[in-house]
Amino acid sequence: MSGQKGRLEGRLIAVGITGSIAAYKAPELVRLLQGEGADVVALLSPSATRFVAPLTLEALTRHPAEVDVLSLLPDGRIGHIVVAHSADAIVVAPATAHWLAAMATGLAGDVVTAACLATAAPVVVAPAMDGEMYAHPATVTNVGRLRVDFRYRIVEPEEGPLASGESGVGRLANLPSIVDAVVASVRDRPVRAPGPEARPPYIPAPREADLTDRHVVVTAGGTSEPIDPIRSITNRSTGRMGVALAQAALDRGARVTLIAASVSVPLPDREGAQVVRVESTASMRAALLDTLTGEDGRPGFDALIMAAAVSDFRPSRPAETKIPGGTSMTLDLEPTPDLLAEVSGIARRLGPDRAQPAAGVKARPLIVGFAAETGSLYRAPAKITSKGLDLLVANDVSEAGSGFGTDTNRVTIFSAEGGAEDWPLLTKREVADRILDRLAPMLDARDAAPHTGAVTQETRQ
Ligand SMILES: Cc1cc2nc3c(=O)[nH]c(=O)nc-3n(C[C@H](O)[C@H](O)[C@H](O)COP(=O)(O)O)c2cc1C
Repeated sequence: MSGQKGRLEGRLIAVGITGSIAAYKAPELVRLLQGEGADVVALLSPSATRFVAPLTLEALTRHPAEVDVLSLLPDGRIGHIVVAHSADAIVVAPATAHWLAAMATGLAGDVVTAACLATAAPVVVAPAMDGEMYAHPATVTNVGRLRVDFRYRIVEPEEGPLASGESGVGRLANLPSIVDAVVASVRDRPVRAPGPEARPPYIPAPREADLTDRHVVVTAGGTSEPIDPIRSITNRSTGRMGVALAQAALDRGARVTLIAASVSVPLPDREGAQVVRVESTASMRAALLDTLTGEDGRPGFDALIMAAAVSDFRPSRPAETKIPGGTSMTLDLEPTPDLLAEVSGIARRLGPDRAQPAAGVKARPLIVGFAAETGSLYRAPAKITSKGLDLLVANDVSEAGSGFGTDTNRVTIFSAEGGAEDWPLLTKREVADRILDRLAPMLDARDAAPHTGAVTQETRQ
C-alpha cells in the first residue's frame, strides 16, 4: 500500500524519463518517492527534455538532472555512472516504445539506457504509449525480454483515454502503484550508498538572505609553523569546511572575512568576501585581533566561525637559515596560543557583556568553535565553557567520510545551553548551511534582547 511514510528512507532512487506525453507526470512521481523518504535523481532522454524541463527536476531533486550521455559532472565524474553505481533502484517512468527497444538491444545512446546497463540495482519499468504501439509484437517482445532476461519489474500500463484521443491499454500506470513497485524492488536490500559522497552532487537549496548586513568572520585551512625558512610542520586540513561556511554565509547576504591559512580548494566565488591570507598561528592571531575591533572600538563582526585547524604546537626556536640534512635531530615544540579562548574572551569584553552598555554599543559577537577529535567526542562539551563558545561543532576525524580531505562530514553540534545534536553524514556545504540555520536566529535573538550580551534560551525562542 502506498501513502505510508518512510518506506524508502535513506535510499537514492533514480527516475528515468523518456519522451512520452506522460512525462508531465514524472515530477509528481518524484514528489511521491520523496514523500517515502527517498533522495531522488532524474535521468532524461533527449526527447523527454521536450516534454518536461530538466530544471523542474533539478529544483525538485536538488541534484543535477542527467540529460547528456556524453557529458561530465562539474567534479569530473560521469553522471550516469555515478547514478548507476549509487542508486538503490532505477524506475523508468514513462518508458516509450523506442526506449524499450533500445533497452532490449542494449543501445546505450541516452542516459536512461546507459544507467540501466551500468547498474546492479533493480530496475522498474512503467511503459506508456498508444494502445496499438503497446500491442505491437515488437513492443511485446521487448517488454518480454526486459521482464524475463533482465529481470526488470514491469508496471503494466492501464486502459483508458490516450493522448491520441483514442482509448486503449497504454496509459501510464497510476503513480502510487509505480511507487509500490519501487518499494518492493528494494525490499531486503541494504542501502547501496548511504553517504552523499558516492551519490550525485547536491545542489544547495536556496536559503533566505537571513545574514544580510551581518559581518561573519570565518577561519579556514591548516596553519603551518616554520622549522626553518624551508620546512614547516602543518596538518592535513584542506580548508573545505571553512570555505563552505564562507560561501554559505555569502549566499545568505553576509559580508564575509575569510582568514585563510593553507587552503587547497578554490576560495568562495562571490565578490563580497575579503580574504586575508595567513600562514602561522601567530599570523592568524594577528589577523583575528585586527578584525576583532571595528574602527569605533566596538566589536568588528557579528559572528566568528573558527573552522581552521590551528596548530597546537610550534617549533620553539625556528632556525633562521636552512638546517642541513644528513644527521638526525630532535625538534623542540612549544604550545601555540589558544586563539579560540583568547578571541572569545576579548569579544566578550568588547561587547556589553558585563558592564552597563553605552547607547549604541554593538552586542557581543557570537563565537562558533570546531573540535576535531579522534575516537570519541567526550572532551568536546567541556570546550564550550573553557573557550567561551556559543556553539561547538565536533567531529571524529578518524571516522570514514568525516574530517580532513573529504567532501563530507558527520558532526555533533553542542550549544552553550547544554544541548547536543548528532547530524547524519552530510556534504560540508550542508553542514555549513545547517550551522548558519542555527546561527542566524541566534544573532536575531541577540539583537532583540536587552543589551546584556547574553543570548538566553528565552530570547532565542
Ligand atoms: C506529443 C507526443 C507524444 C508522444 N507520446 C509517446 C508515448 O506516450 N509513448 C511513446 O512510446 N512514444 C511517444 N511519442 C513518440 C516519442 O517521443 C518518440 O518515439 C521518441 O523518439 C522517443 O524517444 P526516447 O525513447 O529516446 O525518449 C510521442 C510523441 C509526441 C510528439
